Amino acid sequence: AVAAPRPTVIWLSGQACTGCTETLLRTNHPTLETLILDTISLDYNETLMTGSGHQAENWKQQAMKANWGKYLMVTDGSVPTGAGGNYCRVAGKTYIEAVKDCAAGAAAVISIGSCSSWGGWVSTGVNPTGAKGLNEIITDKPVVTIPGCPPNPYNFLSLVLHFVTFGKLPALDDKMRPKFAYGRLIHENCERRPHFDAGRFAMEFGDYGHRQGYCLYKLGCKGPETYHNCPSIGFNDVGQGTWPVGTGHPCFGCSEKGVGFTKSIHELA
Ligand code: SF4
Ligand code: F3S
Repeated sequence: AVAAPRPTVIWLSGQACTGCTETLLRTNHPTLETLILDTISLDYNETLMTGSGHQAENWKQQAMKANWGKYLMVTDGSVPTGAGGNYCRVAGKTYIEAVKDCAAGAAAVISIGSCSSWGGWVSTGVNPTGAKGLNEIITDKPVVTIPGCPPNPYNFLSLVLHFVTFGKLPALDDKMRPKFAYGRLIHENCERRPHFDAGRFAMEFGDYGHRQGYCLYKLGCKGPETYHNCPSIGFNDVGQGTWPVGTGHPCFGCSEKGVGFTKSIHELA
């Protein structure tokens, strides 16, 4: 039997730090190479592809044309809208034009990372480039978001594999985030929650309570305001507790617009 063609994925990057791709490079189940060589066909990704210049742009155009209406579009990084979009140009086009062109033929659009999901930290404060989330530019079709800085790669992989397996998107919340990953507050699943309930708090980094693993709320933890599965899923496959609060740092709400560090930056500006 002839194997079914792998679904085409076209990945565009705006004002990005490449952290979203970097986090994907650290996955083990499946590994990124299994994903892009066996499961999907990643036809364009500026961080990973070997081609460049006209060759890369031509390949992107061919991949879009050959798979029009069927491909998955993924973007990382915010969309700079200041100065007519000229803060980011690729192949002679502004990034605004590039995402509109690509989204027109996409079967589904995914924003990976906080920047693409809602503008991210670059959109806070004075925001000199006019950074916005993709969903403020692409308004004629749903844009699924996987916020996080960086996002958890397994939430992204789960979303992509769900789409590839079932041909449809999973259940989403009102911010277009998959409910399987963003359905609960961090505070609901945090291993320090018994300390919160008992009123045992770390008051300073390195104090007795901090060393004992007490709740980090009084050090600024935003777990009670942030919807994310960080405590359950962890990072980097190195065991239980490998997430910000598990390692002794308060959650700063990296994935939640208007919470934590993004709010603070705004207040400082
Ligand atoms: Fe909630 Fe944060 Fe305390 Fe955990 S450390 S119980 S998320 S306030
Ligand atoms: Fe971000 Fe807080 Fe999770 S800082 S990675 S949402 S614990």
